[in-house]
Amino acid sequence: VKDAGKPQASGKPKLSENDKLVQRAERLMPGGVSSPVRAFKAVGGKPRFIARGEGARIWDVEGREYVDFQLSFGPLIHGHAFPAVGNALAEAAHHGTSFGAPTEREVELAEIVTARHPAMKWVRFVNSGTEAVMSAIRLARAATNRTLILKFEGCYHGHADSLLVKAGSGLVTFGEPTSAGVPQSVVQDTATLPLNDDVALETFFHAYGERVACAIIEALPANNGLLPQRPEWLRKLEKLCKENGALFIVDEVITGFRLGWGGASSLYGLKPDLVTLGKVIGGGLPVGAYGGRSDLMKQVAPLGGMYQAGTLSGNPLAMAAGIATLRALEQHPDPFGMLATRTKTFTQRVREIAADRQIPCTVVEQGSLFWIVLDQIDAQPRSPSVVKPEAVKRFARFHHACLQHGVFLPPSAYEVEFMSLAHDNAALDDALRAMDMAFAEVQP
Ligand SMILES: Cc1ncc(COP(=O)(O)O)c(C=O)c1O
Repeated sequence: VKDAGKPQASGKPKLSENDKLVQRAERLMPGGVSSPVRAFKAVGGKPRFIARGEGARIWDVEGREYVDFQLSFGPLIHGHAFPAVGNALAEAAHHGTSFGAPTEREVELAEIVTARHPAMKWVRFVNSGTEAVMSAIRLARAATNRTLILKFEGCYHGHADSLLVKAGSGLVTFGEPTSAGVPQSVVQDTATLPLNDDVALETFFHAYGERVACAIIEALPANNGLLPQRPEWLRKLEKLCKENGALFIVDEVITGFRLGWGGASSLYGLKPDLVTLGKVIGGGLPVGAYGGRSDLMKQVAPLGGMYQAGTLSGNPLAMAAGIATLRALEQHPDPFGMLATRTKTFTQRVREIAADRQIPCTVVEQGSLFWIVLDQIDAQPRSPSVVKPEAVKRFARFHHACLQHGVFLPPSAYEVEFMSLAHDNAALDDALRAMDMAFAEVQP
């Protein structure tokens, strides 16, 4: 590290270990990464290559330590390298990593998931959140024999073609792809509505209700900042779905087994027909799941005509990590309550240190999720686009200052932060000290 950036005899600055990796990666991989947000494009600078993690902390390849609030974007509810997960993985790996045949661990994880999440009567395991959502939508279309799907502006459901759409200028818009390579024909059956808008919901269902296969929503939208919705509005959506014969899908890839046993569905009193899961139920391994009403799940192959399959689905490693993660939550006296209390206390301190440094700052929090906006905004923002360009720029500077002082935040003003059960007082105090110095450096 100490020689990084110094000119060599040749006159060229010597590359740090990290930047050598960035260069190697960028030669072979788009942006040098396996998923775009990791490339730091939203905050500028170079991504940090991570060497290891333990509990609330991670270390980069140059040995710098960070308190981590990115937490792999959500799966690590017990923190990094949680011993029970490591042991379960070692044990599973020792006996073979994949068979293409059913194993007992799938049954055990299915038993935990269905016992704990009230909407999950039956379940199918897949390999990612994207796959879970894609499959749930196919199932909704199969079950209703309709094609139209409804999603909401500001919610992210993975990168399946039919969901890479954006809202246009009208009250309801159809089929404007957000990605090159997504044909118009694939998204023309996806309608997008604004969040938190009663009139939009009623008008839409009045006009198109009979054609809607399903509505899908993050009941706690957490991909465009944290945008808690009014429970009455969510319940209105559920009711309109039911009245119109459309299925109601709650995407709990982030919130499942993080906000509580019944995720956002239970928190807001919702009874979805189908639920999608990912992240926490895989304890850091690639897992997703979709499930819900058993009469619907009986339409999935091989029982029914909706085809969906996967070579590595339900593999022993992913199942072992998921079981270890959920069993440890079961053994904890009050995991979700403790996470929520910790998050409340911590975010209050963040607000205070920002105020002391005269930095405009709003921290939105719910359960173990929080979102730092470097601006004074509504404390309960309900729709996207609340972050002004100045606040986005300020966040980029804050992000780098945090890295400098030992705190790892997700590299975008629109990503939410995660708390884990491993974030003890020592880690949180270290984080607050670092963030205080970072706030001092972003003062205008
Ligand atoms: C709510 C939601 N649904 C679906 C996905 C897609 O999951 P994955 O990245 O595992 O494909 C994500 C990813 O962050 C998500 O937040």
